[in-house]
Amino acid sequence: MTCFNDVLLERRSASDRSGKGIGKGLMSKVAEVGKKKQCVRLHLTVLDWNTPARDFYAAKGAQDLTASKGLHILLFDGRDLDNLANEAPED
Ligand SMILES: CC(C)(COP(=O)(O)OP(=O)(O)OC[C@H]1O[C@@H](n2cnc3c(N)ncnc32)[C@H](O)[C@@H]1OP(=O)(O)O)[C@@H](O)C(=O)NCCC(=O)NCCS
Repeated sequence: MTCFNDVLLERRSASDRSGKGIGKGLMSKVAEVGKKKQCVRLHLTVLDWNTPARDFYAAKGAQDLTASKGLHILLFDGRDLDNLANEAPED
């Protein structure tokens, strides 16, 4: 999804909301490939201020789990991920 964000951000300015089906086509292709690989969910992250993107996903049927479930997105990386891995029990 980082890729999706970057591709579309470079294609157009923030003020251009005309839409040519590119976002829908990209999302539909991701869903098609995922379904073929037996995926049953597609998770996305979107920034709170990005109302156009949130509205776009909502129009396509996405559920906003932050609103409905109070879901927080958490990240382990760098040293924190190393520390977590180093604390793993022996197999
Ligand atoms: C949000 C974004 C991805 C939508 O892509 P797009 O190419 O403009 O949208 P499309 O032309 O494919 O539109 C698909 C459908 O969504 C609807 N839609 C598009 N933008 C919408 C919006 N802001 N609000 C509500 N509906 C919207 C269209 O009307 C269309 O409806 P239809 O299926 O009934 O015809 C695009 O505006 C964008 O690139 N935004 C900047 C980058 C970004 O924020 N990416 C997401 C990061 S999480």
